[in-house]
Amino acid sequence: MDLGLKGKSVLVTAASKGLGKASALEFAREGALVTIASRNLQELQKAAADIEEATGQKVHIAQMDVTRAEDIHHAVREAAVFGNGLDVLVTNAGGPPGGTFDDFTDETWVNAFELNLLSAVRLIRASLPYMREKGAGRIVTITSSSIKQPIPGLILSNTFRAGINGLTKSLSMELAEDNILINTVAPGRIATDRVAELDHLKAEQKGVPVEEVKAEAIAQIPLGRYGSPEEFGRAVVFLGSFANSYITGQAVLVDGGMVKAF
Ligand SMILES: NC(=O)c1ccc[n+]([C@@H]2O[C@H](COP(=O)([O-])OP(=O)(O)OC[C@H]3O[C@@H](n4cnc5c(N)ncnc54)[C@H](OP(=O)(O)O)[C@@H]3O)[C@@H](O)[C@H]2O)c1
Repeated sequence: MDLGLKGKSVLVTAASKGLGKASALEFAREGALVTIASRNLQELQKAAADIEEATGQKVHIAQMDVTRAEDIHHAVREAAVFGNGLDVLVTNAGGPPGGTFDDFTDETWVNAFELNLLSAVRLIRASLPYMREKGAGRIVTITSSSIKQPIPGLILSNTFRAGINGLTKSLSMELAEDNILINTVAPGRIATDRVAELDHLKAEQKGVPVEEVKAEAIAQIPLGRYGSPEEFGRAVVFLGSFANSYITGQAVLVDGGMVKAF
């Protein structure tokens, strides 16, 4: 299947590691002109070099913090200059702190809102003029399986991922007339640095070996293992491609069957 991504301009944020990097790699494999964006310049340069080595495709970098409005404009502009406009946007950000309701003040709530919901709003707003100019676009928001089933101890994430899901569904209706399709891809447990850190933290808190924590998590996953970043990236790339011409407003879980809700 031709995904129709050759020469298309793609921006992936929070993409020096993990899910964002894996998604960027799969777009580059398809011959897209990919810009990756995140805060740490060295990590970005390393990620770009890795993707270039794996795909032979030049990758552009934009140093940015998704919580800063001016950085978002900078990253979108960089992607548009590198790729001659913008065809595809993948919104991703770091995760907010874990904890329960009593742990957080107004300040933590506002920070998590800026990191995980307002960033997507701003990225989409800045990207739309480029997509409208082209007469088409694809947007993929990265959320979490918590959009279907809240995860205990992650109340900030549970709240704002649900917000992005609502935003995604609403925009699928508003943007259809512009031929812009938008979907969310929701990871369950994908083996990234963040998930490894969370497992270690939980093991420390419970005073058990990390293998026990992992085994407990895996017991909830019908496919019997964590997903790989590559498996996640492939789902993002299909929904963010021009082979996807009739799926919009959907939430696709990449979770090995972990969430039992329909
Ligand atoms: N992996 C999973 O199974 C899973 C499951 C559910 C939800 N999620 C969510 O999916 C997202 C990605 O997860 P991951 O596992 O790929 O995490 P990761 O391996 O820790 O990678 C996070 C990436 O985000 C960048 N980043 C963090 N804060 C940023 C900011 N303010 N502005 C721009 N870039 C930023 C980091 O680079 P810099 O630090 O250099 O900026 C890094 O490239 C997170 O929100 C996570 O909570 C992941």
